[in-house]
Amino acid sequence: METLREGRERGGGDASTSDARKANGAPTGAKREEIDRVRKSLPIYRAKDRLMEEIRKSETVIIIGETGSGKTTQIPQYVYEDMTLTNGLMIGVTQPRRVAAVSVSRRVADETGTAHGTLVGYAIRFEDVSSEETRIKFLTDGMLLREAVGDPLLSKYGVIMIDEAHERTLQTDFLLGTIKGVQRRRRESLGEDQYGRALPPLRVIVMSATLEASSFSKFFDGAPVIYSRGRTFPVEMFYTEEPEEDYLDAAMWTVLQVNEEEAAGDVLVFLTGQEEIESLGRMLREKASELPSNVLKLNVVLLFAALPPEEQMKVFEPTPLGTRKVVLATNIAETSLTINGIRYVVDSGLSKLRTHHPRSGVDELLVTPIAQSQAQQRAGRAGREAPGKCFRLYTEEIMPSLEKYVKPELLRTNLSGVVLQLKAMQVDDILSFPFIDPPPKEALLRSLELLYSLDALDDDGKLNDVGKKMARFPLEPMAARCVIAAEIEGCAIETLAVLSMLSTDSVFQFSREADGQKNVARHKLKRKEGDHLTLLRVFNEFSACSPKRSRDWCREHQINHRAMTKAVKINEQLTRAAMSQGINLTSCEDDFTLVLRSLVSGFFMNTASKEMDGSFKVFTTGQKLTIHPSSVMFQSPPETILFNELVRTNKMYARDVSSIKKSWLSELASKTFSRRSTN
Ligand code: CDP
Ligand code: MG
Repeated sequence: METLREGRERGGGDASTSDARKANGAPTGAKREEIDRVRKSLPIYRAKDRLMEEIRKSETVIIIGETGSGKTTQIPQYVYEDMTLTNGLMIGVTQPRRVAAVSVSRRVADETGTAHGTLVGYAIRFEDVSSEETRIKFLTDGMLLREAVGDPLLSKYGVIMIDEAHERTLQTDFLLGTIKGVQRRRRESLGEDQYGRALPPLRVIVMSATLEASSFSKFFDGAPVIYSRGRTFPVEMFYTEEPEEDYLDAAMWTVLQVNEEEAAGDVLVFLTGQEEIESLGRMLREKASELPSNVLKLNVVLLFAALPPEEQMKVFEPTPLGTRKVVLATNIAETSLTINGIRYVVDSGLSKLRTHHPRSGVDELLVTPIAQSQAQQRAGRAGREAPGKCFRLYTEEIMPSLEKYVKPELLRTNLSGVVLQLKAMQVDDILSFPFIDPPPKEALLRSLELLYSLDALDDDGKLNDVGKKMARFPLEPMAARCVIAAEIEGCAIETLAVLSMLSTDSVFQFSREADGQKNVARHKLKRKEGDHLTLLRVFNEFSACSPKRSRDWCREHQINHRAMTKAVKINEQLTRAAMSQGINLTSCEDDFTLVLRSLVSGFFMNTASKEMDGSFKVFTTGQKLTIHPSSVMFQSPPETILFNELVRTNKMYARDVSSIKKSWLSELASKTFSRRSTN
């Protein structure tokens, strides 16, 4: 499931809107001068000589610098200017977040005065804006890992920069271990580039915004650590007296109060996700229209991963005179993206964290209190350009109870995707892989077991043909397995459509105001078999509309047009990936049972049966759950269900639920279900 949700956070991008391209690559004199002035004013510029000297001296360096000091946008350019560092090969700069990869690569293209996608480009899952000419390539950690599967020496790269390493995402940690191996192999000069020349050693630059650098340095055999201190201003802290019951409401009043009482300067509000950002956006815009004329007008802008690129760019636009910009953001704005002009920060103290439940084997996105290091980063956003203020919507007393640092994702998530990738890179003994913080052995073994039950491994633990196909597919193992099963069942087209729908943002729009009509859309398009086939129906009906009609259709059915466009795009990408794997694009016409069977072939761990009291019990783990009210299955729960996501509020809820036949389990997932009782 992890992939599917991950997909929902994907940002987009395009090569065509860059100003630089319109200007045919060359910014005009005035713009050029302004760009140079800004570049030279960044803290990292002052450290440039010292920095470059260290980089030339050591194969690996660790760079620590305040958020906004210019690490991401400047250092790749400095390195590019020195041919002795790159040897004409590419510089790869990895980002944990897609949005950041797209946004910074566009910025660097602008700064270099080249059309986006030529000298400077990016690659994120389902999207590649780079070319033969590209020398500075921004990519997500996951993308570079995929490249390492096909090219274990990363022979196109002379320098790899691992950015935002402090976030310690699953992919970053996995990449750190992989890169260490690539470096060793390149040092042993076992490799040649595409022209048969011996490959130079791989230079590695690890960049982080938090001071804790010793673990990186130790991991890279004592690599030097370079600190670039930016100038920061004091930030005055404010806390609430009592814990807030409704932090969204509290955030709104805080913003209004800042606007009324504080000097000019923009406001940055940290929230947890798209839905609440949109809803606070509506609340604030409504209030903004009633503001007295003696206060600044509010200019509310939103920032979250799923926002289309044009919308994201609004965040960076300068604030018009007489207005105050209010940015409502997720933790994207913590360290990945820097917004100029912020003087006030409002911090909910929360973020969404992907957490793996060993018992259920399912990943959940949980709203979780942030770590102390995050609280500090958030507050720091207010003091970049002048003294600032930070309003924490929590009490001072809870601070010591917060974790010091964010726990590495690897230690709290599903490892089956990682293990599959390791196997594909022919790391046979995964227990000996150099993890910077090794996950518990049991978790690795459990992932191996899952891959085995997905038929990806043969009896001596090597990747078989099914496993190889799965590893090359841009989906998590369970979802990839569904596609392979679908070819055999004869419904690849339909199954890919369902997986695309699960990978986009929520397509059903619910407005708080129109609570009574909430389920109209779903009800009209409902299919009795459950949410998966309902999603398929939405996809098919949308696809059948002309582009012009599709907007009206979405409006009539309260369907999110943007999310649908994205689903269609993902579907095209997945279809292309399937074709390149030689998968037959079979269609089942109206025999939708086959689609459900394919889904069961991959997601069999997420199946449950109804109990006497109407709740459900997961077959493999015994976990109790209830169908989420948003599901079309909510009214009439079937005997046996397949689900795709767990959400915990006061209870454990299953979302994206379909009715399945229990007998399919022993038939389609015999490795798991012949050994266990399904009663
Ligand atoms: O990586 P680090 O946090 O050290 O800084 P950066 O992302 O390189 O940002 C350096 C400067 O570029 C900041 O002042 C950003 O506001 C600015 N920037 C921008 O104006 N527009 C972008 N799309 C990206 C960065
Ligand atoms: Mg950065």
